[in-house]
Amino acid sequence: MVFILYKAINCERKEEGRILILEMEKRNKRRVILFPLPLQGCINPMLQLAKILYSRGFSITIIHTRFNAPKSSDHPLFTFLQIPDGLSETQTHSRDVLLQLTLLNNNCENPLRECLAKLIKGSGTTEEGEISCLIDDSGWIFTQSVADSFHLPRFVLCAYKLTFFLGHLLVPQLRREGFLPFPDSEAEDLVPTFQPLRKKDLARIMGNKDQVEPLDAYLVKILETTKPASGLIVMSCEELDRDSLTESHKVFGFPIYPIGPPHIHDVPASSTSSLFEPDRSCIPWLDKKETRSVIYVSLGSIVTITESQFLEIACGLSQTNLSFLWVVRPGSVEGREWIESLPLGFMEGLNGKGKIVKWAPQLDVLAHRATGGFLTHNGWNSTLESICEGVPMISLPFVWDQLLNARFVSDVWRIGIHLEGRIETREIERAVTRLMVEPEGEEIRERVNVLRDEVRRSVQGGGSSSRYLDDLVDRITSF
Ligand code: UDX
Repeated sequence: MVFILYKAINCERKEEGRILILEMEKRNKRRVILFPLPLQGCINPMLQLAKILYSRGFSITIIHTRFNAPKSSDHPLFTFLQIPDGLSETQTHSRDVLLQLTLLNNNCENPLRECLAKLIKGSGTTEEGEISCLIDDSGWIFTQSVADSFHLPRFVLCAYKLTFFLGHLLVPQLRREGFLPFPDSEAEDLVPTFQPLRKKDLARIMGNKDQVEPLDAYLVKILETTKPASGLIVMSCEELDRDSLTESHKVFGFPIYPIGPPHIHDVPASSTSSLFEPDRSCIPWLDKKETRSVIYVSLGSIVTITESQFLEIACGLSQTNLSFLWVVRPGSVEGREWIESLPLGFMEGLNGKGKIVKWAPQLDVLAHRATGGFLTHNGWNSTLESICEGVPMISLPFVWDQLLNARFVSDVWRIGIHLEGRIETREIERAVTRLMVEPEGEEIRERVNVLRDEVRRSVQGGGSSSRYLDDLVDRITSF
């Protein structure tokens, strides 16, 4: 109690401190250990899950790497413990995410084991209560054996759509069966066992030749180490993943908890888990714009583009004559620091219709009445966040699950326009105009609003995600 009071009094956010004091009595004396994969798209859902479990009475301890460490000061209600990850300075700045994940998986086993050993030894003697379980990302492939060695139940968090988790099974299988290469004439065909993907999408998901072996081995290992876990927590919901849920129940033996979208659960404290500082000046800028008049452009936290792609996007946006808010992460334009390759006078020539920031408060931007569309890479978080705000999309996927999410957006839910990889001025101008001003855009908007309402209902009392969450909480409490 003394420890929690100390944290409450020292909260930077007074509101969170007040809520903490009010909620102290409700603590259930159980503690959950979370271990996120250190990528923005994986940290966000894990910290959102932490907030949900905290609101259900659990104490939260986050074990994290030094690489992409979450900002503990943003989450005064949780305990943060850093472990060494062994990445060199060069590896930290590498753009090869698969290599980084491989190194992290190789390096973190002993540090995690030692950290857990200390926590378990002290468990029961602190205010934070007995440790119930470990929850970590499906991308950690050594954690099941670590958890087993402490007889600690482990849950796996899947930050993707469940369809893509099933794809971990399908991609190596399709490769073994010699699915690639296929004739150009078949590029648009659906992949029979992995719909709604098209053959051309799958070719991109399967990666380049050098990555084939490590990638397949990684996917197989993810499945192998998820099977013995106590369950899979999915940041999706029945409304978005029904078929895959039925299929997953047939294929996998473990319980599956689709409790998403995590960010719209009714939890008291809201704080950011951004690794970068969001530029909040875009909110007053949006305030001055007409309702649904601005196209928001962001390609997430990992994608990089070439300079010529960057310039095509810039020209396409400017030629629409519509307002745009564009996130360009420093270093995301290959060979450039930021936006210095824009032609001289480009921004001034837009007469206040364009704004470029290094990182945006995305949830607030999507929820803003002025935002009328989202040109996105379709990372799963961005896709979910857009659906939850009823913002129609223009899909520009680059890698991995983004290609699958984009197909759901354009071909299944029909809540967006697919650019089909054409990063050209004319194509971008056309897609933005179709979405923002033409009747087709209105129809797309109506469909996304219907889907938004269904998805939002899932987290409300009696909704599918809310029921799965109750089951998950019961299960964790039973350990
Ligand atoms: C990565 C992969 O690219 C993606 O395919 C996978 O589904 C998850 O991991 P990322 O590129 O980070 O994801 O995209 P996304 O899943 O959309 O997550 C980005 C997160 O950063 C979102 O929660 C978004 O709200 C946030 N964000 C993004 C900001 O807060 N500000 C920004 O300016 C951009």
